[in-house]
Amino acid sequence: MLHSALLNVMIKAARRAGRGLKRDLGEVENLQVSLKGPANFVTIADKRAEEAIYSELAKARPGYGFIGEEGGTREGTDKSNVWIVDPLDGTTNFLHGMPHFAVSIALQREGAIVAGLVYNPANDDLFLAEKGKGAFLNDQRLRVAGRKKLNEAVIACGLPHLGRGSFEVATQEMAALQPKVAGLRRFGAATLDLAWVAAGRFDGFWERNLGAWDMAAGMILVREAGGFVSDFAGGDDMLGTGNIIAGNDYIHREIVAALKPIGN
Ligand code: IPD
Ligand code: CA
Ligand code: CA
Repeated sequence: MLHSALLNVMIKAARRAGRGLKRDLGEVENLQVSLKGPANFVTIADKRAEEAIYSELAKARPGYGFIGEEGGTREGTDKSNVWIVDPLDGTTNFLHGMPHFAVSIALQREGAIVAGLVYNPANDDLFLAEKGKGAFLNDQRLRVAGRKKLNEAVIACGLPHLGRGSFEVATQEMAALQPKVAGLRRFGAATLDLAWVAAGRFDGFWERNLGAWDMAAGMILVREAGGFVSDFAGGDDMLGTGNIIAGNDYIHREIVAALKPIGN
């Protein structure tokens, strides 16, 4: 399939980072059994992946700004265009040798996300979307799932863990949704959760306290696959609040209604 020049640039960067991460996953599996463990190794692996992505993107589009989870913000001379990058989303999975993690790259132009890529190097799933041009998985056009009822829906979420998030809020959210759905899942990589909503694998997704790099690419994937994305108030400030709800028209609306009373 022929891609736009923009997507080609993003694909090249993601594949280069992905090759490194796949090699590193093999190493993690070795370190797993050692007493020292792979933790330090992984913090180096994601920084290295971010540098690989930055160098590819900067070579192809000099002047664009860059926001990366690891290296922070690098101002560009072109103030209209900013890359938003998570070089390794699903670090905990990666650290445990679980092949569910991704490289995520989005382009924000004049404040709007215009292109998104989510790539899982472990199974080579490459999700792509460009504004107005649809969403794709390995060149197959994507469409969000058509299920209209919560009782048929499988919903993904994020969960608090040691040192992060509110257990009280999460407990209320689970109480509101768990009894109404066919299944809840917590897979541990927000970028893939959103990409899987775009692919119709999950019917919906919600999570709080995310970074822009966790959401930016997935947001355009879901929208270009015909789905809906909002903050918890049903508004458009996902990147500002860090909170996101995604799904098709029906399931998105149901999740917003169920979680709204719990607050923003
Ligand atoms: C994390 C993952 C996880 C989500 C966390 C994120 P990281 O990103 O997306 O699914 O629940 O909130 O921080 O740290 O693996 O890049
Ligand atoms: Ca992340
Ligand atoms: Ca990360």
